[in-house]
Amino acid sequence: MAYSIQDKTILVTGANRGIGEALVKELVARGAGRVYAAARNTASLAELVAQAPEVIVPVQLDVTNAADISSLANDITSLDVLINNAGIANFSNFSGESTLSIAASEMATNYFGPVNLTHAFLPTLHKSSAAAVINVSSVAGIANFPTLGPYSASKAAVHSFTQGLRAELRKAGIFVQGVYPGPVDTDMTKDFETDKASPAEVAKSVLTGLQQGDEDVYPDAFAQQMYAIYNQNPKQLEQQFAAILD
Ligand SMILES: NC(=O)c1ccc[n+]([C@@H]2O[C@H](COP(=O)([O-])OP(=O)(O)OC[C@H]3O[C@@H](n4cnc5c(N)ncnc54)[C@H](OP(=O)(O)O)[C@@H]3O)[C@@H](O)[C@H]2O)c1
Repeated sequence: MAYSIQDKTILVTGANRGIGEALVKELVARGAGRVYAAARNTASLAELVAQAPEVIVPVQLDVTNAADISSLANDITSLDVLINNAGIANFSNFSGESTLSIAASEMATNYFGPVNLTHAFLPTLHKSSAAAVINVSSVAGIANFPTLGPYSASKAAVHSFTQGLRAELRKAGIFVQGVYPGPVDTDMTKDFETDKASPAEVAKSVLTGLQQGDEDVYPDAFAQQMYAIYNQNPKQLEQQFAAILD
């Protein structure tokens, strides 16, 4: 499948910084017709919108808020691509005192947010002749990264959601892509010392993947190396990630 971004209408969640902001910029560069940039606080989108005010439309959205989701789905009556990017990460484990509340909030944002938003926009996506849904999971979603245990579980849920949604929408011709980044240089990883990909590099890989019809995108070198291990032997990747606690 070759997909053209030219003139398409696209909604990006978590668009005010990090990977979401980079996706909006790259969509504009690749000729998107209209990009709805969603953020909890629309004032935080001002600089981004100013770069292409004729294309970028700021919209308010907290992906954990059902009223926000239904209001946005009412307002946006034409949409080709939904990009579920917004997410949160706590560097925490399954043994800590706050495990339950952290796990609940990560599932609410990272998993139930995309599920609810996608559900709300499906009737609109079905009206598009070139519809797609892109879900940003993580390489920690294919094997648990133990310093991000509950987060990894929420991203595994996104991975499974992506597979199920893809199967369900295949006959309707709606393309579903999963994105599995390694460490990316954004606010999310500011306290995590390691080599990181740039958000711009990730955005380019995601959108090239969309244009090429790649269902699974491992957008950076670390993610590609980890996927190569997983592809050979999933247990080996689990053990390699587990070794971070040694
Ligand atoms: N950075 C990495 O290493 C990495 C690796 C793998 C996957 N990812 C995934 O990539 C995606 C983007 O992350 P990032 O690295 O760009 O992180 P980031 O810089 O921390 O940005 C996160 C974005 O999500 C938004 N957000 C958080 N909770 C939200 C909510 N309830 N409703 C709406 N928006 C919400 C934030 O908005 P506010 O400004 O309002 O907080 C912000 O725009 C996430 O799904 C993340 O899990 C990141």
